[in-house]
Amino acid sequence: MQKLWGGRFQNETDYDAYRFNASIGFDKRLIKEDIEGSLSHSRMLAECGIISKEDGKKIEEGLLSILNDIDEGKLTVDESYEDVHSFVEAVLTGRIGDAGKRLHTGRSRNDQVALDMKLYIRKAVSDTDKGIFELQKVLFSIMSGNLDTYMPGFTHLQKAQPVTLAHHMGAYFEMFIRDRSRLSDILDRMNTCPLGSGALAGTTYPLDREMTAKALGFTGGPTRNSMDSVSDRDYLIEYLSALSTIMMHLSRFSEEIIIWNSNEYRFVEIDDRYSTGSSIMPQKKNPDIAELVRGKTGRVYGALISILTTMKGIPLAYDKDMQEDKEVVFDAIDTVSDCLKLFTGMMNTITFRNDVMKRSAEGGFTNATDAADYLVKKGVPFRDAHSIIGRLVIHCVEENKSLNDLSMDEWKAESDVFEDDIYEAISLSTCVEKRVTFGAPGKESMTKVLEYYNRYLNND
Ligand code: ARG
Repeated sequence: MQKLWGGRFQNETDYDAYRFNASIGFDKRLIKEDIEGSLSHSRMLAECGIISKEDGKKIEEGLLSILNDIDEGKLTVDESYEDVHSFVEAVLTGRIGDAGKRLHTGRSRNDQVALDMKLYIRKAVSDTDKGIFELQKVLFSIMSGNLDTYMPGFTHLQKAQPVTLAHHMGAYFEMFIRDRSRLSDILDRMNTCPLGSGALAGTTYPLDREMTAKALGFTGGPTRNSMDSVSDRDYLIEYLSALSTIMMHLSRFSEEIIIWNSNEYRFVEIDDRYSTGSSIMPQKKNPDIAELVRGKTGRVYGALISILTTMKGIPLAYDKDMQEDKEVVFDAIDTVSDCLKLFTGMMNTITFRNDVMKRSAEGGFTNATDAADYLVKKGVPFRDAHSIIGRLVIHCVEENKSLNDLSMDEWKAESDVFEDDIYEAISLSTCVEKRVTFGAPGKESMTKVLEYYNRYLNND
């Protein structure tokens, strides 16, 4: 296969060395970005008089025809080439002749691949953002319908205080707001164009780097240091870090769905479309999708660690180690995209067992804090109130009842401050609705927050 660098060599590359070095098996994914970059580069070369207008026109038409044939499936990438850049240049030259050989004037594969990756990642970041947005819409609709669906809130996976399903879902909605804002930060910071940095030290041709940066949509303009430009992979690390955080959130969420779907909890029922069975146990309906999302978190973290480690020992400027950035990043992008899509589908079809959640919230002394607060409001110091209620809890455990079941005599046995209004004060709805602080599960506060989420979703 014709190489881009054959001139200096007298012997053929060892076959295994050639394959080991080649990246086409995975960088073929960048073909559209590669052509997009080449189109801007060649237009600029012609505009600046570095190549002739006629050659510029031929190159443009040739590149557009390749793009078109790729889109229509008439051209597939020939994997015997070293990389996608060599393949495009070879096809171009095959189609338009010598003009094709002028495309690479004032350019190196180092700034070319840096550009291709930035273009690809820019789009991938936006796609990830859309994936999260779709999930947020589903969460919003669950929240809107469940402002007074009571359930236990947990700490240490022990029932703690009652909350609502809307409030619980809102916690994840918040995590996804932060995830999206991280993505938008990344887009801002990577908004500069490396094209025109050459191999590492710019070029002697009078390239108009502002022009290509603008044409390619980099509103931050061209990068300021050509050595940094060809060896910067920070944006990949930032993106993988953001993807890892998204997966960490999805994994926590999955864990809860798995617990809630267990026979012991039964808070939810995952729809048939998003669960699978067992080959031996006929009764099983397993939460595999949630388990896989939780499991795949590991490979996304792996990609982050992989690139951090690859980059840590690389002297300036470009070194071939950096070719290792692609497979892991592509895998992480695909993984997160699948996870978001399937998790969203699962949440969109899941059934919440409101009755079971409510019953669960009524047990487990989730109103013990409220009972203590009742005493505090009647003048008892909090520390004393805490121990009075603690003793009543022991009594209830022994008698196998809840605080709500205690008779007036039983209350009074611990403190004569208790009166009839204790029952109302510790009812499930009071316990939730009295939590009025902004950010709490009470309906009043949650309604305000939902209005905010509604504006957030619609401003998008
Ligand atoms: N395949 C290479 C990569 O992915 C492209 C850049 C090659 N540059 C070079 N000087 N060999 O990083």
